[in-house]
Amino acid sequence: MTPRVAAVFREHFGDPTGAVVAKAPGRVNLIGEHTDYNDGFVLPTIIDRHVEVVARKRSDRRVRIVAADLGERRDNNLDNPIDYTDSGWLPYVLGVVHELALRGRIELGVDVVFRGTVPHRAGLSSSAALEVATALALDSVFNLWLNPIEMARLCRDVEHRYAGVRCGIMDQFASRLGKSDHALLIDCRSLDARHVPMPLGDHRLVIVDSGVRRELADSVYNQRRTECEEAVAVLREAEGSVTSLRDVTLDKLAKHESNLPPDLFSRCRHVVSENHRVLEACESLAGGDLLTFGRLMNASHFSLRNDFGVSHPVLDRMVEEAIQVDGVLGARLTGAGFGGCTVNLVKQTALPDLEQRMQPLIDDWSLRSIVIRSPEHARVTEVIA
Ligand code: GLA
Repeated sequence: MTPRVAAVFREHFGDPTGAVVAKAPGRVNLIGEHTDYNDGFVLPTIIDRHVEVVARKRSDRRVRIVAADLGERRDNNLDNPIDYTDSGWLPYVLGVVHELALRGRIELGVDVVFRGTVPHRAGLSSSAALEVATALALDSVFNLWLNPIEMARLCRDVEHRYAGVRCGIMDQFASRLGKSDHALLIDCRSLDARHVPMPLGDHRLVIVDSGVRRELADSVYNQRRTECEEAVAVLREAEGSVTSLRDVTLDKLAKHESNLPPDLFSRCRHVVSENHRVLEACESLAGGDLLTFGRLMNASHFSLRNDFGVSHPVLDRMVEEAIQVDGVLGARLTGAGFGGCTVNLVKQTALPDLEQRMQPLIDDWSLRSIVIRSPEHARVTEVIA
């Protein structure tokens, strides 16, 4: 436990004996955007920013939570209704606790302190990291033995029920199961996953934060998901075997173009083509073909911009500038879109040039960029005896 968190725990809840400390990383999605809730493929990797949660079991049903970085505290009780309108961090932590109680896995409350280094609302899954770190800490405190996929699912459900975002499972899955130096290929239909080595050689993955923020719940995110569902309903009328966009090929889609409003057709074209790109990207990454990987990243960005309609002018500028740099093999927006970050595949020696290109578009390169080096996978790091 970091000394600061220990001090905060002590200040609010006394001697930390009996507490456990869990950590979970944020993630950056390399390719496969808006495919997860369409039963498709995604390829995220974890980043060296994480959330740390300290939790200790109580003997009553109170739930006391302190956000150490913000100096905020909320006291609650497992018997009280949750305030679903809270737009801050509370739904993520309290949601995990309540969800475990609802499922009959816990009966007692907890004292929790958390802090984190994942930038907020930047598309790097700070909320998933918070949910997963909370779930891991509670898993250990209450000896729940949740399997990792069950935990990812539970955290995804928390996001739906308590934060109002109808997200897919990618973020929670990646935070829970991702490992250093590997991308994680997830089949979001079967939930089979494979760690894919990343032989990057003298290249680096660099995340650049546009600084543009948009609330996921308020944004067009849920609307995009609804559009995909509407398209599936139309396609199913024509072909009964279609249960999600995963069942649709580009040929099949072309056949039914006239049945779909132009916007819905474009949304589908993005999802269907993105699934192909993920599988191709995975092959090229594993085989060390970074040129192809970078080309697919660019194609993904343009598809998200033109067909899926989730980019932002600042993100577009950042990508257009980045790909001009000699040594940048690919760039794209990452995460839900509408703001947040780009991810760039860059030759190490081209980093200063990328910085120079990005500087006029962002305030401060040192604060706004992350060069992924050695992320730590999710785990319980300490049990305080
Ligand atoms: C957010 C959601 C994910 C996924 C991405 C877009 O990060 O939480 O489930 O849909 O957007 O790919």
